[in-house]
Amino acid sequence: MLRRLHPDQPESFAFTPDNHAWAEAQITKYPAGRQASAIIPLLWRAQEQEGWLTRPAIEHVAEMLDMSYMRALEVATFYFMFQLQPVGNVAHIQICGTTSCMICGAEDLIAVCRDKIAKKAHQLSADGKFSWEEVECLGACANAPMAQIGKDYYEDLTAESLGSLIDRLAKGEVPTPGSQTGRFASEPASGLTSLTEFTNASIKYNGSVQRAVDLNDTVKRIDGTEEPLRAPWGDQSGRRGGGEGKRGPELSDGHPIDETGIDKREPVAKATGWPDEDKPAKAAEAEGAAHPQPHGLTTPRDGKADDLTRLSGVDAQTESALHELGLYHYDQFAALSPGEVTWLDAHLDGDAPASRGEWVAQAKALLSGDKTD
Ligand code: FES
Repeated sequence: MLRRLHPDQPESFAFTPDNHAWAEAQITKYPAGRQASAIIPLLWRAQEQEGWLTRPAIEHVAEMLDMSYMRALEVATFYFMFQLQPVGNVAHIQICGTTSCMICGAEDLIAVCRDKIAKKAHQLSADGKFSWEEVECLGACANAPMAQIGKDYYEDLTAESLGSLIDRLAKGEVPTPGSQTGRFASEPASGLTSLTEFTNASIKYNGSVQRAVDLNDTVKRIDGTEEPLRAPWGDQSGRRGGGEGKRGPELSDGHPIDETGIDKREPVAKATGWPDEDKPAKAAEAEGAAHPQPHGLTTPRDGKADDLTRLSGVDAQTESALHELGLYHYDQFAALSPGEVTWLDAHLDGDAPASRGEWVAQAKALLSGDKTD
């Protein structure tokens, strides 16, 4: 299918303040220079806010990630989950038309959509409340035929039950997701033949349906205020490195802790040259806080540092980070304790660079005149 931007576009796009904070926190997951990796979650959040992806939204996300518009457009047009045209302001209904659902009645469901919403997929209903499309298998084949409406699955559908769902949504109701014939999950439609003793009267719904019932927001737009913003690598508000926002968990004396219970007063040493708030520091805090920082020198001895790029995985950027820690000479690396190696692994960029690179053994080899790889 040819996927193009819709001809009618709004003038501008902006995230709500809470969604903007969420988006900023997503970006901090990735190392400096790799912010573009956040493209999909940010586009998705823009779509959750507006219902569909507008050209200004795509450009706004590209600017946040320092990407060219074309790169962002390539992502938006490649993935079918991104809606490039307006959708119903109440719900966009996605009917699965793949094998199981087709055999079990998907064509009847599509006929209901044509009748109640619009003749063609991706067209708005006359009142603007609904739109629909046929999609590929959504992975609920045992409960076919099914549809995704908003964020949730409605399963074991018939033409009548889908029509009723649409009518209820139009009235502002949020029908209970899951099987529409009373199945708990994906057990045999004719009833249990094994594990029949499962009778916990206190459990009404399976896990995902219960969660949907608890949230009650299947078709709601996301403006960022309806859920706790979580960014354990920043502060609990979702904002990078502090800022005003919702308070996170605290110790009894009022000092903040992260989700693992680590006192956020623990210092995170700077080893990479990035500001602390730019480093996904949760792992570093958890790992590094329990181990000693290697003892460093103020300046290299005799004013001349050894060539640390001869250690495996050390490039110019890592070498300069090591210099900031006062590590200049092979003998300093040869003398590192296991705890100090762990500290370096936790505080330097990369996947455990000190232990994976076997810097201690390599430094010893260099001191003895052997060559490293
Ligand atoms: S075939 Fe419809 S969910 Fe898999």
